[in-house]
Amino acid sequence: MGALDGRVAIITGAGRGIGREHALLFASEGAKVVVNDLGCAVNGSGDDRTAAQKVVDEVKELGGEAVANTEDVSDWNGGHQLITAALETFGDLHILVNNAGIIGDRVLVNMTQEEWDLVMHVNVNGHFVPTRWAATYWREQSKAGAKISAAVVNTSSTSGLLGNPGQSNYGTAKAGIAAFTIIAAQELSRYGVRVNAIVPAARSRITESTPGLGDIVQPPTDPEVFDSWDPANVSPLVAYLAGESCPFTGKVFFIQGGTVQHFQPWTLGAQVDKRRPLDDRGARGRASKAHRHRARAGGGAPDQVGRAGPTR
Ligand SMILES: NC(=O)c1ccc[n+]([C@@H]2O[C@H](COP(=O)([O-])OP(=O)(O)OC[C@H]3O[C@@H](n4cnc5c(N)ncnc54)[C@H](O)[C@@H]3O)[C@@H](O)[C@H]2O)c1
Repeated sequence: MGALDGRVAIITGAGRGIGREHALLFASEGAKVVVNDLGCAVNGSGDDRTAAQKVVDEVKELGGEAVANTEDVSDWNGGHQLITAALETFGDLHILVNNAGIIGDRVLVNMTQEEWDLVMHVNVNGHFVPTRWAATYWREQSKAGAKISAAVVNTSSTSGLLGNPGQSNYGTAKAGIAAFTIIAAQELSRYGVRVNAIVPAARSRITESTPGLGDIVQPPTDPEVFDSWDPANVSPLVAYLAGESCPFTGKVFFIQGGTVQHFQPWTLGAQVDKRRPLDDRGARGRASKAHRHRARAGGGAPDQVGRAGPTR
């Protein structure tokens, strides 16, 4: 018996990299999987729509159930079609793993508006749109009296939560995804939907092409040494967050190798409370300046009337 038996899951960007590992694990745990992938390059260009089908073939060879979908998840209608595909093929939807993402690195002073917009669009809208349509389905089901136990797992990045030079567009999008996770969790709990996010670190074409990281992420030559960059290490956490017995919602977890760490959200720190305006000195200064002005004009504050001398 698998941990995800009978659950229907959509995994976006599952044609390669981390998403492919999610699809293989989810199917081996009994989930029926919609393998979505547009098949684009790491920077979002092109579309090799065979990527999703290749993973579906792998799942089927291993005895699992899966169907391919090649919609662009950042497109309003594409995201709707994706949710519809799960419902039409498998009759229900329980899990949405928003994993599709692209990068477009450039230092801020050289970044074009197109480079900014594309990375924001694919990463942020690519999380919002499928979640929006899945949530609409779950709300309808909930209002019709069905007991919903659904899960959304989003994909953020240390680039956004800790910062990484050269990735202001990607990092901003990924920090936005963490905020989206918290707010979606707050809004959707009433329908029986939990929403969490992971912050993965794993070998993929993204990390292999990152200057300084390409060598580090390579598998160890000694097969006895744990391959902490293997993307397959990320998927068990995602399967856990997607499972019916998981209690977490609104949380963000870093995952690399066998290490999981809870990301604390933005938290208010040390406090200064003067119980009067912070620019009190400035305000008093402005008040006395206004007073002097009124006094020169022959007026004055009520308690000063009679003390103000004639103007010269
Ligand atoms: N690899 C890491 O260490 C790392 C670190 C932090 C975050 N991430 C995030 O993990 C996720 C998976 O990345 P990966 O490293 O496996 O990279 P990857 O490039 O191997 O996989 C991303 C997949 O998403 C697909 N995709 C992109 N845009 C799409 C769209 N609009 N619609 C449908 N599919 C689309 C691509 O075709 C690709 O197959 C991404 O969101 C990435 O930002 C990865």
